Amino acid sequence: MSKIDYSNVDFETLIIHAGQDHDPAYGALATPIYQTSTFCFDTVEEGAAKFAKQVPGYHPVYSRSGNPTTRAFELKCAAMEGGEDAVATASGMGAVGSTLLAFLQTGDHVIFDTSVYGGTDAVASTNLPALGIEVSRVDTADLEALKAAIKPNTKIIYFETPNNPMIKVTDVAAVKKVAGENIRVVVDATFAPPPVQHVLKLGADIVLHSITKYINGHGDALGGIVVGSAADMALVRGKCMTKINGCPPSPFNSYLVLRGMKTLALRMKQHCDNAMAIAKYLDANPYVKVVYYPGLESDPGHELACRQMENGMFGGMVSFELADDVKGMSSFEAGKKLLNNLKIPAIAVSLGDPDTLIEHPASMTHAGVSKEDRLAAGITDGLIRLSVGLESAKDLINDFEQAFAAI
Ligand SMILES: Cc1ncc(COP(=O)(O)O)c(C=O)c1O
Repeated sequence: MSKIDYSNVDFETLIIHAGQDHDPAYGALATPIYQTSTFCFDTVEEGAAKFAKQVPGYHPVYSRSGNPTTRAFELKCAAMEGGEDAVATASGMGAVGSTLLAFLQTGDHVIFDTSVYGGTDAVASTNLPALGIEVSRVDTADLEALKAAIKPNTKIIYFETPNNPMIKVTDVAAVKKVAGENIRVVVDATFAPPPVQHVLKLGADIVLHSITKYINGHGDALGGIVVGSAADMALVRGKCMTKINGCPPSPFNSYLVLRGMKTLALRMKQHCDNAMAIAKYLDANPYVKVVYYPGLESDPGHELACRQMENGMFGGMVSFELADDVKGMSSFEAGKKLLNNLKIPAIAVSLGDPDTLIEHPASMTHAGVSKEDRLAAGITDGLIRLSVGLESAKDLINDFEQAFAAI
């Protein structure tokens, strides 16, 4: 048992220690990788007692339902978010799918924000309706529209804050007020994990992340996490993650995430500082029409972001649109040239890596979203999404300068 009282320490301390008691077998400081599919019992009686959860303590029986390395990752995430429990999955989509299937059944209704990650969008527009689940799409920043969309069979309101790829901020506390006690508010906080914001504390019932992004933070593992009440997590794990979806992370990936999370506080601060510098640079650039970044005073979400994001941090994601005419070219053509001219950012989807990544949502992450829905959500053909990495902000700005000049 840890001697640390996590309710009384700063995030920087909590994120290093929580979930990682010294290993009971040999006292290892780093959590060992329990690379095993199954766990042995000395007797049938012992096996039966462990399956029946009649033995005090943590006793995994099979790595799909529990593994000590993955459990440390789950406990660290529960502590990070201030939730009672957490369920780790093999990818962010595993977390999205397991959460939705845990609480929705045929005849239910769910409200999604108009703009969510392309994979989640496909679940909302195709998979859930195929199961007889009614789906509405509403701008969750418009509380009146949200209120009007609620039906007697509404079970979940689901959104990302900030969202992908518009970096729109939604008021978590206000949405929970509209939802009331009987509708679960599920927030995908992938774009701004703690310490940038703690959405459970703002009133969300469940928070989930693609830990593939900032939480692992090194671009070398896929994973997901769902955090909430112990009762809700028992359902997510028992009904969905271990059964319908069967999608636990590998123990090795759980180890990578535990390793990455040790520096989460430091990394997020640097991502946020760099993103602010790049957003300001782009905002002042004559070839840029609009910058979406809640840290900018001109951003419509700025005032809300100052209230619900913490310590002057606004995340590391910036989207922007080029001017309609850039040196006689359309924003789309100029955007392609800009991306091709950049030397430091990699042209790639995903986000939250040490390396800066840049992508074109209309042809990449959101290519599967219908053009009509894309444009309704503001995802124009000229929109560019930037995951600002941990390089020097000066070097990144110099690179943009040469890339714009060479268009
Ligand atoms: C906001 C958001 N949620 C969920 C996902 C899915 O995560 P994964 O790729 O780990 O399955 C992504 C992927 O980019 C994302 O951006």
